[in-house]
Parts: sequence; structure tokens; C-alpha cells
Amino acid sequence: MPDTPFWTQDSLEQIVSARSKIMGAGVWAAARPDDRPVISFAGGLPDVPSLPSEELLRATRTVLEQERREALQYGGTFGPQPLREAIAERSSGIEGIPLTHEHVIVTAGAAQGIGIACEALLDPGDTVLVESPTFPGSLRTFVSFGAKIEAVPMDDEGLRIDLVEEALKRLADEGRRAKLLYTIPTHQNPVGSTLPLERREKLLELLREHRVLLMEDDAYGELWLGDEPPPPSLFSLSGGELAIKVASFSKIIATGLRLGWNLAPPAFITRMAALRYDMGSSPYLGRVVAEMIRNGDLDRHVERLRGIYRRKLDRLCAAVEEHCGEYVSYLRPEGGFFVWLALRPGLSAIEVQRVANEKGVLIGAGPHFFADGNATQHLRIAFSYTPVEEIEEGVHRLAEALREVAAGSSIK
Ligand SMILES: Cc1ncc(COP(=O)(O)O)c(C=O)c1O
Repeated sequence: MPDTPFWTQDSLEQIVSARSKIMGAGVWAAARPDDRPVISFAGGLPDVPSLPSEELLRATRTVLEQERREALQYGGTFGPQPLREAIAERSSGIEGIPLTHEHVIVTAGAAQGIGIACEALLDPGDTVLVESPTFPGSLRTFVSFGAKIEAVPMDDEGLRIDLVEEALKRLADEGRRAKLLYTIPTHQNPVGSTLPLERREKLLELLREHRVLLMEDDAYGELWLGDEPPPPSLFSLSGGELAIKVASFSKIIATGLRLGWNLAPPAFITRMAALRYDMGSSPYLGRVVAEMIRNGDLDRHVERLRGIYRRKLDRLCAAVEEHCGEYVSYLRPEGGFFVWLALRPGLSAIEVQRVANEKGVLIGAGPHFFADGNATQHLRIAFSYTPVEEIEEGVHRLAEALREVAAGSSIK
């Protein structure tokens, strides 16, 4: 035994990689179900009672009966071939462009999809444009690769394309070039907005002109809750050329699967696969999900989810209007899991979050989602996880918190 312990904080700092130094020792905590007797609007988690266990059981049985050998052995780093094929066929329909398995790499969720694309694209010092606010998990990944983040503000319709243009010009004047623009154009996290078609087209035009790649995070794209589906994805509008689309089964099947996929031109898919040495995503689980796609269970499930989340969103909006109308404003999202509440001037999001927490309702405070520190006073309400019958009570408690904070501030 050495005299001094080896794994001390100080010695670790000398040993760890530059990437580990950038990230420090803080561990990312994914949103988890909260077993305390609280009402949680905090995490972007799926509805629990509708998690499709019967469908998964059925598909598992079929896979073990029919593909036992392949399912229970190593697969390749592109991911299980039947799942790549099933995703390609399903995505060809959704995107309206012909795709084959060569356009697909299977990942351990969108989080890994973003990570693996960054690994293939980013060097320390590269510039990444992000919309602001955005999903903090992705920011964390960009920072871990040593990227410089340029935050571009949004408005009610999503990313401000005029400000993207301004940022690109400014960077060019400074002799810099953005390598990548990261956006969640559909049912954005945390804001809930969906970028209109004209903005999508204008954005692609700009990025083509400046030769900037696009990373489109589509974690919530299929969960549209209005009468109409959202506009075509940026991936689709670019003919599958300029954009890497990152997608996931987390929100449409289960976060616990840890399965997602990236769509990109085949040459880039190969570069991402070539970087992997984790033996690829689980051949077993991948085949189970492929079976759910083939037998139609996934599409039926997504359709059912739309009904469930539409009801929850209706309930939330009605309760917010009834109980919180005096203190907040918001735009009803067309899909996804989130409502973004703008607080009346003078109310602090952090303070409201704290007081709400004391009253047994958990919510997300807006400042958490801003890369540039230019936070606005907003709260993110995730309506997906909370049982529908608890939504009203949760909003009622939030209203009490708002009243209390307002009474303590200059607003009465
Ligand atoms: C916008 C966005 N991207 C990516 C992820 C990561 O999801 P996954 O579970 O697929 O890794 C999330 C999860 O909340 C998200 O909201």
C-alpha cells in the first residue's frame, strides 16, 4: 500500500484527460421519476401507465423464438441490421425521401447520438451555434469537446434566423467559421416552439451559403398534439444532405431502453460507426424494437400517446389559465412535453421554483437552459409525466408559490 492515497482530488487532476478536466467531477443527473409524495413537472419523462410493456413482451418473445442466435451475440457498430432497416423504412415515410439502412446508425439514445456526431466532427476550439435556450445535456456535450458556444436567441416561433445570419457574418468578420448549428426545431425543449416552414427553408439556405452543418435534434418530433403534423424536418427539407438528424425511442417507447438513432448521409454514418468500439447497441433490444416497428405496435403506440399527451396539455393549459393567469403568460405548444411560462416582471424564476418545491410541486427554472447566462424569467413545465388527475393540484400549488413570491416582491 502506498503511504499516500493515490486517487485524491489533487492527483486525479494531474491524471485525468483534458476532456475530463473541462467537465470536472459533476455527474449529469438525467431526469428520474420522483418517488416522494410530490407532484413533478420537472423532468421530460414519458407517461408511466402507458409505457408499452405488453408490446415489448410480445416483441421479445418473437425475437427470442425467431432470431435468438443473432439477438444474443455481438452485433456491429452500426447497430442491429433489422433495426437499421426498420428505421430506414419507417423514416422514408416520415421524411418523404428514400432512405436505406446505410443512412442509419443505432445509438444509446439521442444523448449518445449527439455525442457520437460531435466526436466525428468537433475539435477543441470549433464553434457551435446553438439556439437559446436549449437542452442543457447537449450543451454539456459540446463543451466537453472543447467547442466554443455561440448562443442565438429565439422568439415565439423558434430560432431567430436573422440573428443566425448576423452571427455567421460576425464570425466570418472575426475569421472564424461555425462548424455546426444545433437546433431542436420541432416541439423544442424547453420552449415548446415549432419552427415554421419558411424559417426552416431560410435557415438551410443560410447554412448552405456559409457551409455550416446542421444537427437537428428531433427527440419530440413525432409527438405532435394539434390537428396537423409539424412542417417537414430540416433533414427532409435538405434532401438528407446538410443535416444530421438525431432521434430517439426514449419519448415514444421508453427512456429505459436507451435506444435511438442518427440519420445522415451514408459516408458520415460510416465515420461515426468507425469511431465506436463499444460493440454497437444491444442486438437483443434493437431486434425487439425492430419487431415493434414491423408489427405496427410502435405506430399504434405513438398514436395512443398523442391522445394521452393532448389531454394532459389541455388540462394543464386550463389550470394555468384559471389559477396562474395573473402571473404568467405562455404559448400553447403544438407538441412535445413542455410548456414555457413567462413570469411577470419582478418575479424570479429561481425563487418561484424554490417556493413551489417547498409546497410539493417540482418545476424546471428557466435559467438552467441558457448557455450564455442571459437568462430570462421563465419556468419550464413538463406535462408529460404527471398523472392527469394531479395536474390541477400541481398547478394550484404553483399558483400559491407565485402568489407568495409576488407578495414578497414589488408586485402585488
Ligand atoms: C432535446 C433532447 N435531446 C436529447 C435528449 C436525450 O434523450 P435520450 O434519452 O434519447 O438520450 C433529451 C432528453 O430529455 C432531450 O430533451
